[in-house]
Amino acid sequence: MRAVTLDSVPAAPAVTDVDTPQPEAGELLVKVAASSINGFDTAVAAGYVQGMMEHRFPLVVGKDFAGTVEALGEGVDGFTVGQPVFGVVMKPFLGTGSLAQYVTVSAGYGVAPIPDGLAVQDAGSLGLAGAAALDSLDAVGLADGETVLISGATGGVGALAVQLAAARGARVIATARPGEEADFVTGLADVDLVDYTVELDKQVLALVPEGVDAVLHLAGDGRRLAGLLRPGGRIASTLGLTPDAVEGDLTVHSIMADPNAATLTVLGDQVASGALRVPVTVTYSLEKAPDAFGAFGAGTLGKIAVTCS
Ligand SMILES: NC(=O)c1ccc[n+]([C@@H]2O[C@H](COP(=O)([O-])OP(=O)(O)OC[C@H]3O[C@@H](n4cnc5c(N)ncnc54)[C@H](OP(=O)(O)O)[C@@H]3O)[C@@H](O)[C@H]2O)c1
Repeated sequence: MRAVTLDSVPAAPAVTDVDTPQPEAGELLVKVAASSINGFDTAVAAGYVQGMMEHRFPLVVGKDFAGTVEALGEGVDGFTVGQPVFGVVMKPFLGTGSLAQYVTVSAGYGVAPIPDGLAVQDAGSLGLAGAAALDSLDAVGLADGETVLISGATGGVGALAVQLAAARGARVIATARPGEEADFVTGLADVDLVDYTVELDKQVLALVPEGVDAVLHLAGDGRRLAGLLRPGGRIASTLGLTPDAVEGDLTVHSIMADPNAATLTVLGDQVASGALRVPVTVTYSLEKAPDAFGAFGAGTLGKIAVTCS
């Protein structure tokens, strides 16, 4: 099969021919229709994950997947061949990723059926970013009418979090540079915009002088963002901010996205119902996927999708 691979790290990913994986007991073989680029994929290529996870070369990169079940490993219940599924590759090692024509995944974690109304192209960009957005919002526990600052609102996680937070009745303050970025974010939901490149603190406190109730730290300086919380405020960080890094009466939630089937189902159903839009702004073919890594690093808005078949 064709796949986006690394022969070593750090290295630029390339599209090569590798053996099609076979499902082990408890696994599904999925024929991948769509995937997307996540920061994790670029981190793997840059060598940042070395020492944290086993790397099996040639290493097929990719976390998100959507497609159809091609074959069932021994002992798999609850899925059928031909069924549309989506999710996130959650193996404890790196090597059999989803930027490929086929991927094997555990049937027990990180996969759910694609509901009617969720396009497979969107499903391929939803899993990891959606779980990170939902888990971050659940962690800060927004009440109706509370104010949340979303730092990194222009990214894949942020663009989903903006919509989910607004749907929960929160007042959303979202970071975006003026122009295309600002237009993109205001197209997602009713938000107050702040430009993170000039005196962010001043702009936020002009909107909410007492400080915000919650922050989603998806980009930028977490300590500085925590300083914009009111006493008793909460911050969720996908970037590893820890409680010892902040001072005062604040709660820090360090998020490790958990794309379990229940979370994937919630996300899929919200998109299918029209309540949530998957913010894909550009799509690459599998053969051009290495270019998508460059585009991600250069700051493409929302999600970069990859069509795999
Ligand atoms: N812990 C987990 O489980 C988990 C899961 C998913 C993602 N993540 C991480 O969460 C982060 C967000 O993910 P993502 O997929 O949304 O990444 P992304 O698509 O790269 O989004 C980041 C966004 O933040 C903007 N940005 C850059 N510097 C900023 C600043 N100082 N203040 C405000 N915005 C700024 C970028 O826009 P510009 O074009 O303006 O630079 C970009 O649009 C990434 O670091 C990712 O690795 C972690």
